[in-house]
Amino acid sequence: MADLRVNFAGLKLENPFIVASSELTNTVEKIKLAEKHGAGAAITKLCFLDIPFYAKPYHIVEKRAGFFSPSGDRLTVEKAQRLVDGAKKQTKIAIIANMMGPGGDLEGWAKLAKKLEDAGADMIEMNMSCPNIGLMAKQIGIETSKEMGAVLGRNPDMAREVTRAVSEAVRIPVMAKMTPEANTQVVAAECAKGGAAAVSAINCPQSLPSVDIFNGGKPIYPNTDNHSFAGLCGPWIRPLAYRHVAQIRMKSPDLPIAGGGGLASWRHVVEMIMYGATVPTFCTILYLKGFEILGKFKKKLVEYMDRMGYETLDAFRGMALEHIVTPDKVKYNNIIPRVDKDRCNGCGVCTGIGSCMVMDLKDGKAAVVRKDECYGCGVCYWLCPKDAIVMVNEESGEKVNLPAF
Ligand SMILES: Cc1cc2nc3c(=O)[nH]c(=O)nc-3n(C[C@H](O)[C@H](O)[C@H](O)COP(=O)(O)O)c2cc1C
Repeated sequence: MADLRVNFAGLKLENPFIVASSELTNTVEKIKLAEKHGAGAAITKLCFLDIPFYAKPYHIVEKRAGFFSPSGDRLTVEKAQRLVDGAKKQTKIAIIANMMGPGGDLEGWAKLAKKLEDAGADMIEMNMSCPNIGLMAKQIGIETSKEMGAVLGRNPDMAREVTRAVSEAVRIPVMAKMTPEANTQVVAAECAKGGAAAVSAINCPQSLPSVDIFNGGKPIYPNTDNHSFAGLCGPWIRPLAYRHVAQIRMKSPDLPIAGGGGLASWRHVVEMIMYGATVPTFCTILYLKGFEILGKFKKKLVEYMDRMGYETLDAFRGMALEHIVTPDKVKYNNIIPRVDKDRCNGCGVCTGIGSCMVMDLKDGKAAVVRKDECYGCGVCYWLCPKDAIVMVNEESGEKVNLPAF
């Protein structure tokens, strides 16, 4: 049977499933629940020496469009120490402490990390990626004294020096969390130079949710009177996360990566590892479905690995990278759609595609016409509600197997 154990930057994990830092991990009870349902490690909620401002957690969920988190309930260092200590005593999983030091004050970063190490943390995760602290002020020209959150994570030199200060202050491994608002390839490589044992990618990009269009454009969720740029997370950022992880892996082949952002199924876990992640992390999917979903992912991952003959995660890690080329090197195959007349109900979805005029309805059923004009782009295949379109290789006539999403 597949072996899910993994050595992540020196942490020996029973399985690679890591619960990302958030309100999912701000109490010992929740971390115990995460362990019960199969997490291999948990990253505790962000803590500070001095919490910069009061923030109450709230979320805006636009179904099939986004999960926005403009805020969060951050911990004092004392509370984080109690949390780490309690979680270490009451669970067997690895406990990673997420923290943010005071901007470029290296001593402050080192002091905070040391306190968390003393509390028993197995690893430090340096949060240089929060989209809700510091970045917006910088963007709209408000002077702030400290380079906080994603502001720091966009500055490779400062990120490296902060990493150096923290790595030198503690004996446990240190991980730097990347913001997708930065060139993460460069920032991750600089953090590795500063002593990072690993990086995690990605934190939330900045975004803005819908507004109340019948009420002067006010926030749609009236628990606040106004709002700020919000972190966007969940399935909507998954392709962005894949890109960042792949780019980091390409530049830093030996740097362990905790890859997360939008992972919502066992298949996404495999994809993230194939793009080069060492371990996957989960946040929004657990908000939406609960910790129980981890057990399902684990079962399915083992089934998949057994089916494919992969004994460990190493067997397929980074596999997808060799298929990534620059746009001018993309090789094309002649793939065209073929309609299964028995399945087609003539709904006409495929004839309404704005960019394509090759499908027509004939006798109430769709038929591929003007083959010479068909690019084989696949949009009709992905849209067909009846799965009545198969893509075939034009030369051989053979059906192309595509995953169903
Ligand atoms: C409500 C909420 C709170 C979060 N709090 C933190 C935090 O304290 N520290 C941190 O580094 N990331 C935090 N994050 C970011 C997540 O850890 C994760 O990196 C991000 O949400 C992307 O993963 P996902 O798409 O699986 O949610 C938070 C995310 C959410 C949704």
